[in-house]
Amino acid sequence: MKTIFITGASTGLGKATALKFANSGWKVIATMRNPERGTELSSHENITIFPLDVTNFQQITQAVEFAIDRQVDVVLNNAGVGLIGPLEAYSDEQVQQQIQVNMLSVIQISRAFIPYFRQRQSGLLMATTSIAGLITFPFGAVYSATKWAVEGMYESLSFELERYNVGVKTISPGGIASSFRDNMVIAPNEAYNSAFNQMYHAFLSGKTPTKVSAAEELAEVVFEAATDGKKQIRYVAGEDAKTYVQQRLTQGAEQFRNNLAEIFFGK
Ligand SMILES: NC(=O)c1ccc[n+]([C@@H]2O[C@H](COP(=O)([O-])OP(=O)(O)OC[C@H]3O[C@@H](n4cnc5c(N)ncnc54)[C@H](OP(=O)(O)O)[C@@H]3O)[C@@H](O)[C@H]2O)c1
Repeated sequence: MKTIFITGASTGLGKATALKFANSGWKVIATMRNPERGTELSSHENITIFPLDVTNFQQITQAVEFAIDRQVDVVLNNAGVGLIGPLEAYSDEQVQQQIQVNMLSVIQISRAFIPYFRQRQSGLLMATTSIAGLITFPFGAVYSATKWAVEGMYESLSFELERYNVGVKTISPGGIASSFRDNMVIAPNEAYNSAFNQMYHAFLSGKTPTKVSAAEELAEVVFEAATDGKKQIRYVAGEDAKTYVQQRLTQGAEQFRNNLAEIFFGK
């Protein structure tokens, strides 16, 4: 029986992934910063809840030790938070929190598991990034910075780990029906109000791909990535994300950005 370790498993994609793997006969170490949010998961015989706030390095060390003791096979760095607004409106704390949760924790957790995977010559590191890690949207500068960083980091990491039979994969979802938007930190600045509203209207206008996927649908993609045995690194997940990536490839990065600017701001 194989074992997966998941961060941010209390809700959304992390929770759906925990259930998908557990129902498929895997052991799941479902980590979350508030273990009381894991009541539903903990009633599943294949799921163990473990406390992990990914901004707490001591907890990372404890959680990794716990997982290695249980001979974990797959790690999914999934915990994430959104930060939206113009860059000049962000406080240092907001920027640091965003980088810590979405990027630094992925580095710290991956680094902690690598010696174990390398020595046993098998294992798979995965991270939930975002379509915003492959393209960009307005008012998401630091969010995109963290997600592009993880995409780049994992692609680079794949070169050094493949010789040890350790896989590296990213799941890059488009919109997910989850509590992500409710949890998103919004940093406003009056000077940008009208542009910010324009962006929202553009998203609602249907001129951008709009399909939001159920977390359960995207958990299927995570499962496929963990079990397909392919060397493939990047899994774009959700119809909206696939459309964006295809458009960027077809139009070229510069023209694609210009076209998005036209859709959002009419220029
Ligand atoms: N929703 C979208 O449209 C979307 C699109 C593309 C990519 N993503 C990415 O997909 C991943 C999952 O998001 P989701 O849509 O499932 O949103 P979600 O339901 O809000 O789930 C986010 C998870 O991250 C956890 N988390 C936040 N800060 C944490 C911390 N310091 N330590 C440990 N866990 C922490 C949350 O825990 P709590 O319950 O304690 O808050 C929650 O379990 C994220 O990496 C996100 O960036 C989301």
